Amino acid sequence: MTIALVILAAGQGTRMNSDLPKVLHPIGGAPMLVHAIRSGATLEPSRIVVVTGHGGEAVGQAALDYAPFVDIAVQEEQLGTAHAVLQARAALDGFEGDVIVLYGDTPFIQPETLEKMQAARATHDVVVLGFEAADPGRYGRLVMDGERLDRIVEFKDATDEERRITLCNSGVVAADAKVLMELLDAVGNDNAAGEFYLTDIIGLAGARGLSAGAVTCDEAETLGVNSRAELAEAERIFQARMRAEALSDGVTLVAPETVFFAYDTVVGRDSVIEPNVVFGPGASVESGTTIRAFSHLEGCHVSRGSVVGPYARLRPGAELAEDVKVGNFVEIKASRVDRGAKINHLTYVGDAEVGEEANIGAGTVTCNYDGVMKHQTRIGARAFIGSSTMLVAPVSVGDDAMTASGSVITSDVEPGALAIGRARQVTKPGLARKLFEMLKKQKLKKSQEA
Ligand code: UD1
Ligand code: MG
Repeated sequence: MTIALVILAAGQGTRMNSDLPKVLHPIGGAPMLVHAIRSGATLEPSRIVVVTGHGGEAVGQAALDYAPFVDIAVQEEQLGTAHAVLQARAALDGFEGDVIVLYGDTPFIQPETLEKMQAARATHDVVVLGFEAADPGRYGRLVMDGERLDRIVEFKDATDEERRITLCNSGVVAADAKVLMELLDAVGNDNAAGEFYLTDIIGLAGARGLSAGAVTCDEAETLGVNSRAELAEAERIFQARMRAEALSDGVTLVAPETVFFAYDTVVGRDSVIEPNVVFGPGASVESGTTIRAFSHLEGCHVSRGSVVGPYARLRPGAELAEDVKVGNFVEIKASRVDRGAKINHLTYVGDAEVGEEANIGAGTVTCNYDGVMKHQTRIGARAFIGSSTMLVAPVSVGDDAMTASGSVITSDVEPGALAIGRARQVTKPGLARKLFEMLKKQKLKKSQEA
């Protein structure tokens, strides 16, 4: 079965009280729209059309950033959900197969649910995704006639009796593209909202002798985000899912409820994630690694056997090979750290390469920024960087070389050399004691004057 997705994302989302279009508010570090695209993408659709309107440019751009293969259709005026789907017509030109309509603000529809809908298409011309609502509120109601879905009535237009129905419309619809477009063309806007309702296609289908049916899913899947409170709830649900997934994938989470994942976090089997670890987007951690407490990882890769943290920060472009150790209060950005290297304390490594088995002493800084441009630092294999070395980039330290503690290294160090870049120590016997006495006298004098 060939599939196309139409994702509606033109609505304003007034209740978010935000300058950011609703569908761009993030869950797990990615706009909620991206979650909708990703869940639909598991069906391997041949086309994905995102319908934008409010904040259209930003929404379209975000969709393309994450999913360059989508088409953008613009709904200039938000005249209703049926009107919105019709805007995808040009992008669907020549497409033959089923269209599935999803909402950009409904990020949690599961792939299995969409598969169930596809299966139901064998029996019905139009399939709607419904759910039993604990509090049906203002949802559209599914009016069933036995196994058949007779019509959907919007809350605003429903009678008291219809409002007592608890089987509600999620908004997700599947139908053959040609049939769907014909039905949409017949939708009018003579209703309480004066909108073109997508939901009207069910009644219209029945009138044409086509059959409609409903598939149901858990209410949690159809959770829509309309307010900041619902966004926070969506984040909670998302994190709970990611934690459960990690645990069942064989990852140890010592305190699961304190670990936060991004939408694309990958953690290999037999890794241990200690409490209060936060993953930003783009982090992958291979099997058998340990991420210790209070670390923050984003846009980075950690290879097998490495230990990161506690209190470490891996920023985008941090690439750790096997058996690397990164300790407390270490920040690594856009740097490759080769096998077995150790960066254990209080260090900044940015725009650098660190060779195999190199040892970076406490308090080392790659001074990568001159205020205008960024520069590279190269540290060779087995090099030993003394504590509190300032590596003023661009600079390189050769294989098996050393720098003395407290050095400011401004020129390249050849392999095997020891570089000392600091003032020579001078020791004056007895001078400290003399100084102390002088200072104490001064203090006494001052307090007597006061
Ligand atoms: C819709 C359904 C309702 C269902 C509910 C589920 C209709 C008429 N009603 O109602 O049966 O229970 O969703 O949440 O379909 N959108 C556009 N362009 C528009 C209008 C809406 O792109 O002109 C998008 C919105 O951005 C949103 C989605 O369509 O993603 C749903 O629109 P919304 O206004 O929230 O519809 P509801 O009134 O909630
Ligand atoms: Mg809604």
